[in-house]
Amino acid sequence: MCGIVGYIGKQDTTKYLLDGLKELEYRGYDSAGIALLNTDKIDVFKALGKLENLKNKVDNASLSSSYEIGIGHTRWATHGKPTELNAHPHLGEYSYVVHNGIIENYKELKEELIEQGHSFVSQTDTEVIVHLFENYQNKLNNPIEAFKETISRLDGAFSILLISKADPSKIFFFKHGSPLIVAQGNEEGEVLFASSDAPLIGLANDVVYLEDGVGGIASTEGIEFLSDDYSWSTLPTSKQFAQKDGYRFFMEKEIYEQSDVVSDCMLGRIQDNGIDFDEIDESLIEGIKEIKICACGTSYHAGLTSSYLFERLSKVKCNVEIASEFRYKEPLLSDDTLFIVISQSGETADTLEALKMAKNAGLKSLVVCNVDNSSMTRTADHTILTRAGIEKGVASTKAFSTQTVVLWMLALYFAKAKETISSEKLQEELHALREVPKSLIVEDKLHEKTRRLAKRYLHGHGFFFIGRDVFFPLALEGALKLKEISYLHAEGYPAGEMKHGPIALADPELFTIALMPQNLLYDKIKSNVEELSARDSTICAISPLDFELADDFIKTLKTDHYMLEFFEMLIALQLLSMEISIRLGNDVDMPRNLAKSVTVE
Ligand code: G6P
Repeated sequence: MCGIVGYIGKQDTTKYLLDGLKELEYRGYDSAGIALLNTDKIDVFKALGKLENLKNKVDNASLSSSYEIGIGHTRWATHGKPTELNAHPHLGEYSYVVHNGIIENYKELKEELIEQGHSFVSQTDTEVIVHLFENYQNKLNNPIEAFKETISRLDGAFSILLISKADPSKIFFFKHGSPLIVAQGNEEGEVLFASSDAPLIGLANDVVYLEDGVGGIASTEGIEFLSDDYSWSTLPTSKQFAQKDGYRFFMEKEIYEQSDVVSDCMLGRIQDNGIDFDEIDESLIEGIKEIKICACGTSYHAGLTSSYLFERLSKVKCNVEIASEFRYKEPLLSDDTLFIVISQSGETADTLEALKMAKNAGLKSLVVCNVDNSSMTRTADHTILTRAGIEKGVASTKAFSTQTVVLWMLALYFAKAKETISSEKLQEELHALREVPKSLIVEDKLHEKTRRLAKRYLHGHGFFFIGRDVFFPLALEGALKLKEISYLHAEGYPAGEMKHGPIALADPELFTIALMPQNLLYDKIKSNVEELSARDSTICAISPLDFELADDFIKTLKTDHYMLEFFEMLIALQLLSMEISIRLGNDVDMPRNLAKSVTVE
């Protein structure tokens, strides 16, 4: 998501910060800023949009002082719009902070600090950190203790660099959740910080990849860690490799990232007794009798998945349409319908037009989106951000998992507001939601299995992905992933529909990927797969339960909720299509004929 850099030393601080942020551009951002400290003076520059805008501001300022300390940040909006005020570094009275992650308890902290006389200028969660620090510093007059106290009050994910006139020779740092690296620079007395390897390559050899819960204080005198839980490593030398965090493709990196970004997506939103979204309140569903969802591609599959959850949990009629179809069917719209669009980019032309049509018809609208300040977030009445960070692979992965989690949370939010769910059932669902990040961890064994399977699935005349209930949209998504990057023919089908035609294609050269969850309609899907097996289709079953008719088997873990099985199977499907694509020698990240964002009809 966001990027962090920091510098202490006698070289050109501004250059390191700006060049470093440039190296982090691949992570995506909508604004950027730097703070430069010189004994009793802090200069700060912030700009919206491209780094070029920030650089121009710095150049125009013709800085005369030399700075030995600086921190910088590229921001991907999660709390508050992308504006200069919301851009980092955030200021207190005499300190600045940059932060990656989400402070879960920022609302309580903000109230407490306002009561104590602090005033806030931004809409961000981050700003509480710097006020909290100054609050303690004013009382303790000991910056290290004040920093420790500050950290102890924060919940959520927070990787931080903080500078303060209270001790202008130091950078205070802490890592929890989001990545942060501290490096001994090649020049004497130099200490560098970055949120990934790329800005450090060529400038340092020895680095500490900070573990969660580890922090410290750095100055030209060296680095002092607040605990012993750290070790030095040597930096890799390839920048391209570093940008992909060592993965072969951005798609692979994004598959592996899902567990973390889904945690970010849920931070602060799952409460003890329900779901809370900063972005909406219950008035959104007042008078609503129906939900209509419009989207394209992978986002459409997330929408289709959620329609089962909205009807099952919130007991609201929900129908889902492909945006390009919706636009020209002369749809009947009534104002007791909540119109939801789902889009990773927020720019897909058909989805945007569908949203405009609904708005013109007077419907309440909500967009579930990954990019704040996109055309859709500017058009819709309400936005819920998925917080997945930039997605580079054209084949969407982490956008889908975060969208699905947001929509599941929304279904529970509605269910509670409409009292269609018992508190016991709600607790079960919240428990399952909290387990999703675990289900999305990529196990080596699973990846290896998909790698081995991939070589057997390169030929044949086609693939069927089959499932029931929410596993039907998942089957559609599995087939879409394979089509997009392997160029092999694949179709997703509701398992019960096979006998109404498609089964005519069954033979040993037809590969069936069967999604067989333990917790939902297992016996039904089992008999559908048996029908295919009896007609000699080659079966690859994905299930936690052994299935003797399977030619190949991907075993998932036993869980007690079908949505956890859903996410585990999602990982298996994403890996399988990626490994097949790699074996075929295709460009995984930029498949032929496809675009990441389709802004034409
Ligand atoms: C393109 C992309 C797909 C994506 C679809 C919808 O076709 O290649 O991966 O699912 O657009 O994009 P959106 O940004 O609206 O989710």
